[in-house]
Amino acid sequence: MNRAEQETFQLTAELAEAYEAWFVPGFFAQWAPHLLDGAGVAAGQRVLDVGCGTGIVARTAAERVGSTGTVAGVDLNEAMLAVARRVAPELQWRQGDAGALPFDPASFDVVLSQMAMMFFPEPAAALREMRRVVRPGGTVGVLVPGSLATNPPYELFVDVVTRNAGEEARRLVTSYFALGDLDGLTGLLTDAGLDVTATGSPVGEFRYDSIDQLVGVELDSTPLGGRLEPGVREAILADCQNALAGYLTSTGEVLFPFESRLVIATK
Ligand SMILES: C[S@@+](CC[C@H](N)C(=O)[O-])C[C@H]1O[C@@H](n2cnc3c(N)ncnc32)[C@H](O)[C@@H]1O
Repeated sequence: MNRAEQETFQLTAELAEAYEAWFVPGFFAQWAPHLLDGAGVAAGQRVLDVGCGTGIVARTAAERVGSTGTVAGVDLNEAMLAVARRVAPELQWRQGDAGALPFDPASFDVVLSQMAMMFFPEPAAALREMRRVVRPGGTVGVLVPGSLATNPPYELFVDVVTRNAGEEARRLVTSYFALGDLDGLTGLLTDAGLDVTATGSPVGEFRYDSIDQLVGVELDSTPLGGRLEPGVREAILADCQNALAGYLTSTGEVLFPFESRLVIATK
């Protein structure tokens, strides 16, 4: 969650379970192979997943490092970590802030962060921490959503929300895309003292059962869902039925392409 969301949005155990049951298979799991391939995660390595959520990157890394490697995940949110512990109790899960990682210097061969850095209050501080806890010669890899301009269906959705609910609403629904400029993201890693070795813009997809579901999920995964004036949700839904009609499949599902940014660096 970003700083604005932390003020008002308590992620409950129920929401964390829904994240693991729906968002992980439907969206987040597809990115982990891009990140792990990019970082060259291999047998025997010590890997850290920062902003691990319910742990999809850590679990996928564990399959690669095998019994001779170790995997840890760190997240601010206890509800997410509780699900991570339930699903993979054999891995190491720690509560902590990306800006002050609870690990000694040079503890890991690889430090990764997937779809989380745009929510950290200070991404630069988090990258300095990731550099601190990786060993000299080790690898840091981050993956975040691309910019809004490279994700046209979301741009349409954001325009609908702004038209109906105003600029503050726009700020809440655009926080996901805040680090999507590849040059800016690469510069953040360089400024943290890392040597960038590879960048990419992998394209995946986001699938919803219907436009109704899309609007509900997108509004309710931010504090906006609870703040809308009467009638605004219905107006957003009606607008989206038109604006997003081009992304409906023949079975009535909504299928969005989704572009991300990947940066790999060494210490
Ligand atoms: C969209 S989820 C992504 C989770 C996971 N990496 C994945 O790919 O499924 C973003 C995560 O970042 C975590 N987060 C936000 N701010 C954080 C911070 N300052 N330190 C650590 N984790 C943070 C949230 O609690 C949340 O679990």
